[in-house]
Amino acid sequence: MTPAPFVDLREAVRRSPLDLPGVEALTDEDRGRAQEHWRIHMAAEFASARVFSGLVPQLMAAGLPYEDVREVTDMARQEVEHGLQSARVLAALGGVPVSALPPLDPVPAHDGLPPLEAVLRNVIAISCCGETLAVAVIGAERERTAIAQLREVLTGILADEVGHARFGWRLLRDVGPALDGEMKRRLSAYLVAVFERDLCIMQGCADGPEASFAALAVGASDGPLAWSTFLGTANEVTIPGLERCGLKARWAFEKAWARAGLAGEAPAAAPEGAAGVVERAGWLRP
Ligand SMILES: [Fe+2]
Ligand SMILES: [Fe+2]
Repeated sequence: MTPAPFVDLREAVRRSPLDLPGVEALTDEDRGRAQEHWRIHMAAEFASARVFSGLVPQLMAAGLPYEDVREVTDMARQEVEHGLQSARVLAALGGVPVSALPPLDPVPAHDGLPPLEAVLRNVIAISCCGETLAVAVIGAERERTAIAQLREVLTGILADEVGHARFGWRLLRDVGPALDGEMKRRLSAYLVAVFERDLCIMQGCADGPEASFAALAVGASDGPLAWSTFLGTANEVTIPGLERCGLKARWAFEKAWARAGLAGEAPAAAPEGAAGVVERAGWLRP
């Protein structure tokens, strides 16, 4: 049996170590929670390079401009770099920067669709949904930290994530006039699957434990906060943005909410606790 793939950044961190003053004052529990977050983050960031690499041939097939191809190629390298930055934080917290990788699934091919529609499905799922949420999450993490060195790491990652999200919003705006009603209808239907997937993942987080303020300040994840950030971003940023591009995102979100088996009506506004999401949306305007 082939061993599960993993990432080992010990040597890379040794060449570029990070010092986070004050983390020695954390309790073992808080430090453990923060390490866990950064280990998952390291693996997820590193693995997400494959997503952008997978988009490159799809952008080419759709005949999109050279600048778009170059930009997405850079994004793959940036995600590898985010893996290293996360590994440096993990090591500064006393963790060992080695982790199993999440499943390395290929980017969906969407066979049988016109190449532009196929790549738009993936760009919407990756940039407009996933990376837009990453901006909200990492922006909030950066605001919570009081350690200058950690803030610097998060500032660098955030700047790239803003670029990854804006890429999708700009592409959608640019190609919007070329989309006919039928393609918009199919893209809207595809959104149901995207939102359902995200709702299922994020709802799993909602039941996770809450983190102490000290642990939050070094990046530990907090279940209810992750869920409210997701709902806030979806309602205040992602859904209105997709609606502006002519997609039936609100309808898709409500459908996905029911399909994910969630109770009650899908919320139509940011929940309390997701303050800041709207303000951060300003960074995403193409
Ligand atoms: Fe990243
Ligand atoms: Fe990213």
